[in-house]
Amino acid sequence: MLTPKARGALSAALFETMRSSDPRVVDVEPESADDAAIALWALFELHYRGFDDVEDGMEWHPALLTVRHRLAGDLERRLRERWAPYAVEGRTAAEIGSELFAYIEGHDGPSLARAVQSSADADQVLDLLRWRSVYHLKEADPTAWVVPRLGARAKAALMELQFDEYGNGDPERLHHRLWERGMEAVGLRADYGAYVDEAPLEALEQNNAMSLFGLSRALRGAALGHLAAFEATSSLPSRRMAQGLERLGMAPELVAYYTEHVEADAVHEQLAARDICGVLAQEEPALGPDVFFGAFTCLDLEDRFATHVLGLWEAAA
Ligand SMILES: [Fe+2]
Ligand SMILES: [Fe+2]
Repeated sequence: MLTPKARGALSAALFETMRSSDPRVVDVEPESADDAAIALWALFELHYRGFDDVEDGMEWHPALLTVRHRLAGDLERRLRERWAPYAVEGRTAAEIGSELFAYIEGHDGPSLARAVQSSADADQVLDLLRWRSVYHLKEADPTAWVVPRLGARAKAALMELQFDEYGNGDPERLHHRLWERGMEAVGLRADYGAYVDEAPLEALEQNNAMSLFGLSRALRGAALGHLAAFEATSSLPSRRMAQGLERLGMAPELVAYYTEHVEADAVHEQLAARDICGVLAQEEPALGPDVFFGAFTCLDLEDRFATHVLGLWEAAA
């Protein structure tokens, strides 16, 4: 993958310096939210698979870390401002798990899966798949960063969940591999990062929040709360997605990606809320509020993405 298209003065200057052998601190204000989001997305990407036009050694270059620190701090502040702090103290792991489920269930937002199930047309669904692919082509990777930061119980439970996401030892069963096969079967590109230039701001922010949480040890509570909300809002929507894709006569490989998640995420949500988040917040009570912050952020960013996409579909109707 090459560095993405710039979306303003900041990302243009940043990508230019990233591609050079001697990067400089870019001290340019973002021209827009899109400009800041694509810049941060690319800086985070240096920790994943990187870019063909940026040297691998740039991952820890201090000039680039300086820019990342500023943009990541801005993002975290913005995300925290949207959230109403929520305290959990003196609860058992099981109680925290149940409370987290109730918190997630109590959140009501627009549903893209419902629209795909009943009314979206094939072109609209293909657009949605392109935008979702920015994440699904590295599915589960942002959470992998959290593993070495946990105590034994939460770590073992997270590894059980991740092992499933990573195919239980079979490369053909990796969730991002299932996604690739689905994309290829409907004639879309499946190469890593293929559609990042088309991704709307709301999709970039979803990806950036996951990387921010995953890559910051201080935010490990938020990373795992995000995971719990993600898993707990996946099983039923995945069933709706599968039904919608079948309604549109789309390739069985793509339907299979979603049907896999109907079963898998019904198990993952239990692991994530009770055995991972519950245990973490019991063992490290100071992280309890951040578990809920992460869960809220997952739900809120999905609402924003869904509102954006449904707005486009309604405008076209
Ligand atoms: Fe998955
Ligand atoms: Fe999952």
